[in-house]
Amino acid sequence: MERTKIILDCDPGHDDAVAIMMAAKHPSIELLGITVVSGNQTLQKTVTNALHICQHLNLDVTVYAGSPTPLIKDPIYAEFIHGKSGLDGPVFEPLTKKVEPMHAVSFIIRTLMRSEGDITMVTTGPMTNLALAMRLEPRIVKKIKQVVLMGGSAGSGNITPAAEFNIFVDADAAQIVFKSGLPIVMCGLDVTRKVRCYQEIIDRMDKLGNKASTLFKDMMEFYNETQLASFGWVGGPLHDPLTIAYLIDNSVIETSYCNVSVDNKSDVSYGRTNCDLINFMKKEPNVHVAIDVNVDLFWDIIESCLALYGTEN
Ligand code: BDR
Ligand code: CA
Repeated sequence: MERTKIILDCDPGHDDAVAIMMAAKHPSIELLGITVVSGNQTLQKTVTNALHICQHLNLDVTVYAGSPTPLIKDPIYAEFIHGKSGLDGPVFEPLTKKVEPMHAVSFIIRTLMRSEGDITMVTTGPMTNLALAMRLEPRIVKKIKQVVLMGGSAGSGNITPAAEFNIFVDADAAQIVFKSGLPIVMCGLDVTRKVRCYQEIIDRMDKLGNKASTLFKDMMEFYNETQLASFGWVGGPLHDPLTIAYLIDNSVIETSYCNVSVDNKSDVSYGRTNCDLINFMKKEPNVHVAIDVNVDLFWDIIESCLALYGTEN
């Protein structure tokens, strides 16, 4: 089986953590490295969380720290969802796994420049690291096969009525990526809000009885509490894993190719992804926007990924 090479750029984060668990283990994916950005929490905390996931599950993956702030704006964090640590809920062993000395942006540039143009960039946090890499070494744009991201919304947002968190945190970075001309697949709130992690899903995963499924349970039980308190969701939307699920099985989402522009200028709609799904403006399409998701298939993929950990773990 030909494996899809990816760099996973993330801000763990409960749902990012599940994306890591999937990408690190699935046989159709070759995870070249995890690059971390500030987002759900400070960079120090999101890096620590990425290391914890890898150490806890014995994942042999390198972790690189990236930008501690968005390109221009001050950082904001999603403590109201992910807690003080950015990954509240599970209890981890003392950390011995170390972050790599190389900066995440340098790792992205070096890896892409040495590649044959076959690497997919997956982003599940603010797009600061990727935008910085594109600015520092514009030749990487030709080296990226595609960008698959969790972020944005054609409908309503989750950090303002207009904007989704990842785009809102660094709309300038998102705009650089969306204007890059690269093939982009956007898994936004329109679809990720449909994959709700109800208690019966947690129970189903828990039946696998391995370290990964227990971690999933510990994370999701906390996540569901904050999702309920913040948004009134019973069963939080499991946003970020949809990117990896898509790479494992493209048929999990239905997309519409259209023009998307990121609003990084206005006040009330700052961070909005304006998706011209009806092609009203007659502008060049630039993004494959996910408009529907096969929910059953999504949970089957999650289950099959967690099952890969086996019970000896
Ligand atoms: C996104 O925001 C973060 O809190 C999640 O990790 C996800 O990437 C959802 O809007
Ligand atoms: Ca995230």
